[in-house]
Amino acid sequence: MKKLKLACIGCGSRGRTYLGLASKMAQYYEIVAAAEPSKERLEHVKNLSHNPDFQGFENDDEIFAQPKLADVMIIATQDSMHIKSCLTALEKGYDILVEKPIGTNLKDIIKVEKCAEKLGRKVLVCHVLRYTPFYRKVKELVESGVLGDIASVNMSEGVGAFHQSHSYVRGHWGVKEKSSPMLIAKSCHDLDILCWLVGRSCKEVSSFGDLMHFNKKNAPEGAPARYTDGCPAGIECPYNATRYASSERSWLPHVWPVYDENNPAPDEDVIEWLKESPWGRCVYHCDNNVVDHQVVNMLFEDNLTASFTMTAFDHGRNIEIFGTKACLRGGELIKQATGSDIIIKSQFDSEESSYVVDPMVGGYGGHGGGDPGLVNALYDEMGKDDPKDMYSSVHVSVQSHLIGFAAEESRVSGNTIDIESFYQSNLPND
Ligand SMILES: NC(=O)c1ccc[n+]([C@@H]2O[C@H](COP(=O)([O-])OP(=O)(O)OC[C@H]3O[C@@H](n4cnc5c(N)ncnc54)[C@H](O)[C@@H]3O)[C@@H](O)[C@H]2O)c1
Repeated sequence: MKKLKLACIGCGSRGRTYLGLASKMAQYYEIVAAAEPSKERLEHVKNLSHNPDFQGFENDDEIFAQPKLADVMIIATQDSMHIKSCLTALEKGYDILVEKPIGTNLKDIIKVEKCAEKLGRKVLVCHVLRYTPFYRKVKELVESGVLGDIASVNMSEGVGAFHQSHSYVRGHWGVKEKSSPMLIAKSCHDLDILCWLVGRSCKEVSSFGDLMHFNKKNAPEGAPARYTDGCPAGIECPYNATRYASSERSWLPHVWPVYDENNPAPDEDVIEWLKESPWGRCVYHCDNNVVDHQVVNMLFEDNLTASFTMTAFDHGRNIEIFGTKACLRGGELIKQATGSDIIIKSQFDSEESSYVVDPMVGGYGGHGGGDPGLVNALYDEMGKDDPKDMYSSVHVSVQSHLIGFAAEESRVSGNTIDIESFYQSNLPND
């Protein structure tokens, strides 16, 4: 079996996750190179490659100045850097695994799709939910016909209040202009799953949403810009940054230069870091402008309707699929209420079927086994003859990005967006 050679641009939280998983699948993958400005992160990746010939570079320009080094380039830098790296990697002859979102504006995303098509290259998008046992089971049930014809779907994603504050207020994705709208940054996963499950094209989108909570008007009286400057609300505030040294330590591995779980940073070091770090800021005094709640209504072919709610103020994902023969419910609420992951209830009698998805890698919380599922599948996906047959190809992923950008356009303009016209108006010029 010929191993797939992997190189990676950006060895932050996601890049290290994929390379860490690939390093445990040495029968499939050989990690040959990476580009990353942080010396600690690059060293970490070099160590886990177990490859004496591993080549490290300081940034994307340096790695692209080399001849082609690998079969697949993993692109795991921040959102705004993806497009340039994708286009350069395609021109250099790489196939690509790119983190979602593919890019921060629709024109550029379509440009990547067209470039991949022109060059006959493969671009797989990290829509990891497609690789979870939970959504695979839902897809299998939908395709079995047990639900009959699908009339409508409701989905929701509860980001979680502290997660929202960490990533979408203080963190990388708080400012729309520096990253992307909330639905693109966080929920393009959910829009992708929805498109996959219903298996037809979206026609129209309308959306409402707002940044209701994480803004100045909700700041405790006298709260300074940083907690470390002494906030009168003290530990009573659920977002007090000093929680990173206690109850919220689990967020540190995502942002600490290289988190060593065998040798966790002492509390004093965390507090010192908070004095300078964006994560030490008061959540009510940040520069964030992405929404903390949004609802999207969608009309698909055959007049199938769907709605999706993203909210900071819940945890986990839920799905309801209403079919002419039966209704499927699954996700966090069903699990809490019944212990099962999925329940199907007939429209005509009391018949009910329930399903538990393998708890080792299944479920619906977090990535629910999607990260290992994706890395596991990468080898076979890259071996497919037709790039369009890949599970989460750039070709299928454009649709969910299209809906996400259309929803943002609707939220801001107050108009219902016709998807075909929106697509046409976002076609790249060249
Ligand atoms: N698939 C998912 O579920 C999922 C989850 C979280 C984040 N993401 C996406 O993954 C991407 C990465 O997120 P992250 O949390 O790992 O971010 P991160 O900030 O932890 O990692 C990005 C890395 O890129 C490096 N970098 C910066 N400039 C560079 C350059 N010129 N060349 C090479 N490397 C450079 C940074 O030093 C950093 O280590 C983002 O696009 C994000 O939206 C996807």
